Amino acid sequence: VEAKYGEKSSRDLYDVNAFALSYFREHLPGPALDYLKRRGLSDETIAAFELGYAPEGWDGLLKLARTRGVSERQLLEAGLLIENPENGRVYDRFRGRVMFPIRDHLGRLVGFGGRVLDDSKPKYLNTPETEAFKKGELLYGLDKARTRLKAESELVVVEGYMDVITMHQHGFTGAVASLGTALTAEHATLLERLGVSKIRLMFDSDEAGRKATLTGLDQVIGTRFEVSAHRIAGGKDAADVLMEFGGDSIKAALKDGVTEVHVRYQNAAAKFNSNTPEGKRAILMELLPRMMINESLDFTNAPAT
Ligand code: CTP
Ligand code: MN
Ligand code: MN
Ligand code: MN
Ligand code: MN
Repeated sequence: VEAKYGEKSSRDLYDVNAFALSYFREHLPGPALDYLKRRGLSDETIAAFELGYAPEGWDGLLKLARTRGVSERQLLEAGLLIENPENGRVYDRFRGRVMFPIRDHLGRLVGFGGRVLDDSKPKYLNTPETEAFKKGELLYGLDKARTRLKAESELVVVEGYMDVITMHQHGFTGAVASLGTALTAEHATLLERLGVSKIRLMFDSDEAGRKATLTGLDQVIGTRFEVSAHRIAGGKDAADVLMEFGGDSIKAALKDGVTEVHVRYQNAAAKFNSNTPEGKRAILMELLPRMMINESLDFTNAPAT
């Protein structure tokens, strides 16, 4: 199959993604656009984030690709097609989904996230790991957020696409998302390189969000970031509270940040009984290792007990 389009095979992943993006954007009008409007997004926001729609059907993108000299192999490499291992047939990965193009911090189009328009599962589907799409190194929205880093040098890390987009629409343009995972060491390295000094973690107010906060804090141990954690009150995530209560809800959450030590102490104190010596010891044992790294304390010469 690829031989037929061989002369185009040097076209790289970004170009193939750009081809798919124009297809997705062309198909936005209709139920997908209505959906985004229902979620409170304005036309400007939808345009700024280049949102689109992957129509239902198995081969819309594939068929268009054939008329444009984009090969199956290129689409497969970009994660835009899925190959059935049993019969070798290929079909569009993204079908019937709102499409969120994902750019890296340099603005290069590395992949996509796609959301169903209803409650079906899986809710989100992303580009698989490719040469260009490395989830643990990407922060959604960073291409936009970094343009204002010089002024404020602080980022707000939220959980998902809709959180970032809704935050930006309400003027919180330092918002980025870790694509549903916790912050990684690679994220921290990238942000350090970009000159970020303060990171505010504002994950979902559910158990997964709390876990992601703790894991994220572990990743910035020993870095020079000033980190705070912010609890979203009155709703599940940034997009939800902005939709329901507007920007004041996020302003309040940003003002109410707690330090890393506070988060860790709260977490440990919830697990053990701080009224007993044994409980106190357990809390201490949980906190001490991380704090020793963070404060660069050297206990090697401490007197033996
Ligand atoms: N995510 C993902 N794959 C999933 C679920 C989530 O990649 N199966 C990522 C997406 O980047 C998503 C983010 O995690 O934007 C946040 O997930 P979640 O909190 O579950 O999304 P919701 O807030 O429930 O999504 P929505 O607001 O669109 O209903
Ligand atoms: Mn069409
Ligand atoms: Mn969540
Ligand atoms: Mn949400
Ligand atoms: Mn959420």
